[in-house]
Amino acid sequence: MKIFIDSADIDEIKQTYEWGVVDGITTNPSLLKQAVERRAAAGEKTDIRKYIEKILMTAKGTPVSLEVTERESKKMIEQGRRLFDMFNPVAKNVYIKIPVNPSFSEEDDIHFHGIEAIRTLAKMGIPINCTLIFTPEQALLAAKAGAKILSPFAGRIDDHLRKKMNIDFKKTDYFPADGIIEKGAPVDDNGIVSGIDLVRKCVQIVATYGLGSEVLAASLRNPRQVRDAALAGAHIGTLPFEVIKDMLKHGKTYEGMKNFTRDIVQEYADLK
Ligand code: E4P
Repeated sequence: MKIFIDSADIDEIKQTYEWGVVDGITTNPSLLKQAVERRAAAGEKTDIRKYIEKILMTAKGTPVSLEVTERESKKMIEQGRRLFDMFNPVAKNVYIKIPVNPSFSEEDDIHFHGIEAIRTLAKMGIPINCTLIFTPEQALLAAKAGAKILSPFAGRIDDHLRKKMNIDFKKTDYFPADGIIEKGAPVDDNGIVSGIDLVRKCVQIVATYGLGSEVLAASLRNPRQVRDAALAGAHIGTLPFEVIKDMLKHGKTYEGMKNFTRDIVQEYADLK
């Protein structure tokens, strides 16, 4: 599974590329806002254009998703095209991120701007990452419209299921891939029993029909969920910096290091 960093923080991005563990970057409007605000709090002014260029160059030719902020198809197409023309020449690695359906209301049965924008931009040859996917059906349609990357939001499905069950939780808590059983059956969201179940089903549909899109497991919140996403066959997992660091930790590793350090034969350590 490819690992992307889910961040717009240049320091985090640089660090993970230096470690050689990431294959791309996803950003979203909330992540960009956090990064800009963090810099402002540290007294640094951010020139957004230059800042994004720096992110693109740090990614060294690996994909970077930049999300549109418009919500109407024509405007999303204009903005997507503008962002692509402005930033893709920097390092030839821009994906435009489009919500599968940017309507603000479930009752809106007329406006399906996301799918229109995906289709038009994909036909222009612009690589699209379709975001905010919560059902395999949305993934199927986004793939057919031409999205190269499909982003099911695993963690947010888990949040939704936990709320349904009135479970108190922290964002980083592990949610079992096979769901939580209540009254003899896993609690579900229209047949989806966990975020990982959503990822697994998106992967299965893409593979069964040879759709050619990659499934990017998004909204992953802890290392065990990353493991589950990899086992579910996700092509990509996008992870916050904290999760990447947590993947390197285990109490027995620290304990083992303490013991090895205690047992050092000085003559061996001093060999030149
Ligand atoms: C993916 O592209 C999104 O930026 C991200 O994974 C959302 O994660 P969250 O649900 O933890 O905010």
